[in-house]
Amino acid sequence: ALSSCGSDDSGKTSTGANVIKEGTLTVCSDVPYPPFEDFDKSSDLGFKGFDVDIVNEIAERLDLKLSYQDSSFDALQSGQALNAGQCDLAASAMTITDDRKKNIDFSEGYYDSKQSLLVPADSDIAAIGDLDGVKVGVQQGTTGKTYTEENADGAEIVTFPSDAEMFQAIKAGQVDALLQDLPVNLDHTKDGKFKVVETYDTDEQYGLAIKKGNSQLVEDVNGALEEMHKDGTYDDIYNKYFEV
Ligand code: ARG
Repeated sequence: ALSSCGSDDSGKTSTGANVIKEGTLTVCSDVPYPPFEDFDKSSDLGFKGFDVDIVNEIAERLDLKLSYQDSSFDALQSGQALNAGQCDLAASAMTITDDRKKNIDFSEGYYDSKQSLLVPADSDIAAIGDLDGVKVGVQQGTTGKTYTEENADGAEIVTFPSDAEMFQAIKAGQVDALLQDLPVNLDHTKDGKFKVVETYDTDEQYGLAIKKGNSQLVEDVNGALEEMHKDGTYDDIYNKYFEV
């Protein structure tokens, strides 16, 4: 989805980090991407998920209010949304990559991830080598797209702007497989209609993306993350969403 623009009033945190809206941590995220981000009509914020809990906790520790907005992932991973002042931080299950580091600063990694292949439960596709001539859905701007381009020989790659659209497409039989982050593909197996047949150890770490040069905010966020690791808050949030 598209995000609205940030406001013009400029603010600073108590440590002097710039934020686009006084007293507020404005976070952009490509929703839904369960279990990291999802809509939640029952909460005041309107969103739920692992990333949402993590940034909510960070905002609290920095004495900021949290504002959470839905954005397009490609605009987040390219640095465009951050540079345009739409948000202070992108929390979007975003893998830290050298390429992205040219346009974005990252917090310390806060989650380890991998790639994976999802197919309908009755599919004969069992491995990446079976994708020759097969329609494979990937999300624009993602590490899953790059992995597919580099490793799925002969696959007919179909690119979608969001996970919601690619999940819809595999349900409708418009693509025969999805290649993307393991936790999200696993979430898609919950109703028993799909299965994850292969995982790829890509050694990915998610980081919170911050506008290049806002080093004080990076420091503040890393400080909050470190405290959360020390006092058990990180583990509590992790255990809420992932089996240990
Ligand atoms: N981890 C992958 C990447 O960084 C995919 C992230 C997609 N996130 C999302 N909220 N749609 O490229």
